[in-house]
Amino acid sequence: FPSVVGKDLLTLRDFTSDEIGYLLWTAADLKQRIKYGNETVRLLEGKSAALIFQKRSTRTRVSTETGLALLGGHSVVLTESDIHLGVNESTIDTAKVLSGFCDFILARVYEQNDLEVMAEHATIPVISGLSDMFHPIQILADLLTLQEHFDSLQGRTIAWVGDGNNIIHSFMMAAPKFGMHLNIATPKGYEPDNEISKVSQGFAHEHKTTVNLTTDPREACSKADVIVTDTWISMGQEEEKAARLKSFAGFQVDAKLMSLAKEEAVFLHCLPRKPEEVSDEVFLSDKSLVWLEAENRKWTIMAVMTCLMNDYTPISPMPTF
Ligand code: CP
Ligand code: NVA
Repeated sequence: FPSVVGKDLLTLRDFTSDEIGYLLWTAADLKQRIKYGNETVRLLEGKSAALIFQKRSTRTRVSTETGLALLGGHSVVLTESDIHLGVNESTIDTAKVLSGFCDFILARVYEQNDLEVMAEHATIPVISGLSDMFHPIQILADLLTLQEHFDSLQGRTIAWVGDGNNIIHSFMMAAPKFGMHLNIATPKGYEPDNEISKVSQGFAHEHKTTVNLTTDPREACSKADVIVTDTWISMGQEEEKAARLKSFAGFQVDAKLMSLAKEEAVFLHCLPRKPEEVSDEVFLSDKSLVWLEAENRKWTIMAVMTCLMNDYTPISPMPTF
């Protein structure tokens, strides 16, 4: 397996298919050992993490905190009212100080650039807990969920219906590396970032897959294996709510849209969910894997923390991706 010890995880753009595969394999292995095997696995005994949150979080915070505790480590949660960062102290100074106390940092920030500055000046790994541009640890959970459900990822088509936001950007950095196709439907003016689209096209070319952009949700969902959406109003965009609700009319994932996908198609949503973007009928259906997807946030972040700290050799056989 490829060592990722000491690396930062700021975007999956920087991780090869082998490296992502190793993280997913480790996640599946830890799930097997701890959840099903009832094993005590103290791989991070004595390790401490600073978890910085400039925005709210349920899944990222709770999965990381409880996951690190299970592995024997300890976390310090730092919300905006706990830490000087952004008020009294620079990102650079904060990164240097936390490097003296902790073994890694996980940070949820407004701007991707803040993560980059933090990573440049910290002497410990920095993990993105979401930024305006990416949400890499969410996509690890999504890929694990799809791998568990379908047994393999190769050749599957993901349809995205919604905003060209941080979540789809992270899919674009990872899915082509597993031979997956991406059909992305956004309203006009809400397309994924241009530069990210170019990089994703490059990965698609390299791995012989496709990335299609459209403004037609029906076209995107046709014969898809997976339909994914996310909120139309991301954290920090609250003032755009009225305009966005208008622009996204017709983009709700409902049973009609779902029926255009393959018979065995499934639905994903990173959560938190609002009813605008997906009907209850789909969200609460058998095709919806959202609760498993949320649970898998824990196994995947545990894998990330484990593998950035130490070379870990999974015990269970490598899944096929
Ligand atoms: N999906 C996700 O990151 O959820 P939280 O905002 O609750 O962490
Ligand atoms: N796109 C959403 C994801 C939340 C997990 C946001 O950035 O708010």
